[in-house]
Amino acid sequence: MPQQTLAIIKPDAVKKRVVGKIITRIEDEGFTIARLKLVHLSPDEAKGFYAVHKEKKFFSSLTEFMSSGPVVVMALEAEDAIRRWREVMGATDPALAAPGTLRRLYGFSIERNAVHGSDATETAEWEVGYFFKKKP
Ligand code: CMP
Repeated sequence: MPQQTLAIIKPDAVKKRVVGKIITRIEDEGFTIARLKLVHLSPDEAKGFYAVHKEKKFFSSLTEFMSSGPVVVMALEAEDAIRRWREVMGATDPALAAPGTLRRLYGFSIERNAVHGSDATETAEWEVGYFFKKKP
């Protein structure tokens, strides 16, 4: 049974005009794009999405950044999608991400790291539901 994960192309990558390159990579890696939209998050929507990090010292900077411009939000589908998408993204800090990973290729800093992916089954379900209503 294929699994879904939530992927976000963050404002830094949209500004850099690498959306096409990232989506090509997603398709080349064998993911199916089940849902996709371009949205400009309000500060409150960004805070709601990253609520698990609300006690972290980077929370306000992160949510300001995530609401600073449009993002591309996708539900990606594949066997083992959560783990595989994290592998394609690379480590959170682009400087530590393996060569060829999206964050190494397109990320700028630990905050402006080009892409997001869910980290576990329950988070993936919650994150996909945060952006996409269930199909009827
Ligand atoms: P993401 O995968 O979207 O999940 C949480 C985000 O918080 C992470 O990517 C980074 O953009 C950001 N983040 C994580 N750690 C730090 C940090 N130490 N400083 C600033 N931002 C961070």
